[in-house]
Formats: sequence, structure tokens, C-alpha cells
Amino acid sequence: EDPSISPTPPMGFNNWARFECALNESLFTATADAMVSKGLLAAGYNRINIDDCWFSNYRAENGSLQWNSTLFPNGIIWLGQYLHERGFKIGIYEDAGNMTCGGYPGSQGHEHEDAATFVSWGIDYLKLDGCNVVIQKGRTNEEQFKALYSLWHEIFSNMTSPLVFSQSAPAYFSPDFQTVQNNTDWYTVMDWIPTTGELARHSDDIKVYGTNGHWEPGGHWDSIMANYGFEVRLARYQKCGYYNDPDFLIVDFPDLTIEEKKSHFALWASFSAPLIISSYIPDLTQEEVAYLTNKEIIAVDQDALCLQATLVSQDGNWDVLTKDLANGDRLLTVLNRGEETSSTKISLERVGLDPDEIYTAKDLWTGSTKTVQGTISLRNIISHATAIFRLSSSSLASTPTGMIFNTFSM
Ligand code: GLA
Ligand code: GLA
Repeated sequence: EDPSISPTPPMGFNNWARFECALNESLFTATADAMVSKGLLAAGYNRINIDDCWFSNYRAENGSLQWNSTLFPNGIIWLGQYLHERGFKIGIYEDAGNMTCGGYPGSQGHEHEDAATFVSWGIDYLKLDGCNVVIQKGRTNEEQFKALYSLWHEIFSNMTSPLVFSQSAPAYFSPDFQTVQNNTDWYTVMDWIPTTGELARHSDDIKVYGTNGHWEPGGHWDSIMANYGFEVRLARYQKCGYYNDPDFLIVDFPDLTIEEKKSHFALWASFSAPLIISSYIPDLTQEEVAYLTNKEIIAVDQDALCLQATLVSQDGNWDVLTKDLANGDRLLTVLNRGEETSSTKISLERVGLDPDEIYTAKDLWTGSTKTVQGTISLRNIISHATAIFRLSSSSLASTPTGMIFNTFSM
């Protein structure tokens, strides 16, 4: 709604997919310290968001929410100060219903007092989930969600410094949830969600690491691809100030190959999606930190046009995505969905470029540039890897075809 609240997609950390309810104060302080020392804060990851299960089971006598003082011995106000002193913003989690997904006190009927509590704690960002929403008589599910998310939006709109509002409503209407919700139109929710907050989860959770941080293998690439599949349908809703949220970046999940993790990052960046890492940051490897802090790819995510790349073709194992970039360049992102290393040629016409013109293609993984015309050749793209290029009009007026070296290898 107000693009100045989040002019570009938020970047940072959330504990959920990696740790679920196994959270405590030292996880967040250790995460913040590691984000500083590993250069993640400097690269733009400046939000530390606490997910579910931070709560005391009960509201205080005066009705206000309370943190779990065993998990947060110094308290969340103290934690916020710790984070703010180091250059981070702090985010928290609540639920629009009468109980969170984890069973803690929900905000339904307490919206004004809970918003005031979060402000008094110094919170900058609220993720508002949608479990256990109580539907008033005479309202559809969709009308009830709209009423609650609109109410929070109105509360934030009346503040001098509104919190960033991360909404979960569409996820409760996505085709994933049709068995448990009335068959209300997912797109009906998408039609209003960009007017009530800065981002919105639209699909199921990226599969968590295991139970409360205990590793259980399997299924993480498929869950990334499932959310990718929902995300690509929603490109038209995105604009500066509102971002579709396909859920967390997962990094230290042992069943993902390095190419899969890099693809996850490059695809989310192509979407200008929120880049919220859910991993144990202190143990990230240099290789993982290197791709997460790739300046050129972060610049694509944070591009001033805020466009979500669209899927222009899905031929065989190859997904081709593109978008315009603020400086006039064109992004080309190519995912090998197949199980084999393979090669392909992409026609530049397919991504809306002039087949006769000469372009400079910059490989955003390596920084190497080549001159291309008509097609771009991709050689030996590993299974589930993603090639990502920035194409600029070349200053060369014309080059003999024999001098065009357009093959990239990975
Ligand atoms: C007390 C409670 C905390 C928190 C604060 C709010 O300290 O123990 O959980 O609610 O009040 O001021
Ligand atoms: C839902 C959300 C997750 C997480 C959990 C917490 O499943 O989609 O991202 O917040 O609730 O209980």
C-alpha cells in the first residue's frame, strides 16, 4: 500500500523452517553475531524475525501478551535493543485467529492491544499467520480473513512508523488447503492482499528441517519447487511495496545439493521475493555464505522496479524466466529441472529481445561477460542448477557473426 514501508523485498533471518519451536534468546543473539561476522548484514540481510512459540501460554492479567521468560531470560525488549544496536530490525510472529498454529494465544479480538504491545517492545515487523481464525456468523472464510487483515492494516496505517506487515492469508486459500477450507478463490484473496500489507505467503510451508531442529531427510527440493509453482502464477500482483512470499530460503539442509541451494536463491532473487534465511547461520560454510552474498544477484532481488520474473517457457526440463531491470537490462534465468546435466540454447527472441541486436550477457554467478546475438548457449548445466544472466544492449554496432562467443558452461 505505502511503498515507503518496504521499498524493496525484506531480507533477513527467521528460525522456523530450521528450528521450529526450538528457539531461545541465544539462538537469535548468536545468529545476529554470525550475520555480522559473515558479512550477511553488510550484504543486506538486516531483519531477524522470531516465529511461533516465543509466547508464554497465557496473557498477563491486564490482557497483554507475554514472552516465555525461560526461553527469553532477558526479554524481547532487551533482545530488540541487542539487535538494533548491531544494525538489525526485529520481527515477531502472531496469528489472526484465537490461537497460533503452535497453540499460543492468538490476536483475534485483541488486535489493538497486541499492536500496542509490539510497538512498546520495539518490534519493527509482524508476521501474522492464519491458523484458528474464528468465522463470525454470516461471513465467508474469505470475508473473515479480509476483515482481520484489514483491521491490522488500519492499525498500522495510523502509526507514525508502521510495522512491516507480513501476511499469511493467501496460504490458507491456496489449492494446497482446499481440503480444509471452504473452496474460496485463492485469487480473490490475492486481489486484496497487496493493499493491506507489504508481503504475503501464498502457499504451503517450505518443508522444515525436521522436528524442532532434529534432522529428517527428504523432500526439500520438491517443496521448494512446489512453492515456485505457486509463485509463478502470481507475478502480476507484485509491485514496489508489496511482494509475493514463496517462503524461506533454506541453506544448511543436508539433502539439498549446492546447485539446488544456489537455484533456490537465484529463483527467489529473480522473483524479487523476500530473502529470509531459515538456517543455522553460525555454521554456514564459506561456499554457502558466498552465494547468499552474491552482490549481482542480490541487486536483481532488490532491483528498483520490484518486478517478479515471469515464466516464459517450460520446454522439457528447461524453465526460462525473464524480467526487465531498472537500468534497462533484461534478466534471463534458466533452470534445469531435469535429473541429468544437459545443454540447451535459448533464443533471445523468446525473452522479448531483438534477435538481430548484439547484447552483452553477464553471468551473475561468475561475473564473466560475453557478446551474444540471436541465441545464448548453455553447456553442461547440472541437474537442478540455474543459470542467471543480465543482458545489456551492446555498445558494439555490429560484429561479424564469427566473433560472437555465446556459450556459457557451468
Ligand atoms: C513481563 C513479562 C514478559 C512481558 C513483559 C511486558 O516482564 O514477564 O513476558 O510480557 O512483562 O512488559
Ligand atoms: C505456519 C506458518 C509457518 C510457521 C508456523 C508456526 O505453519 O506457515 O511459517 O509460522 O505456522 O507455527
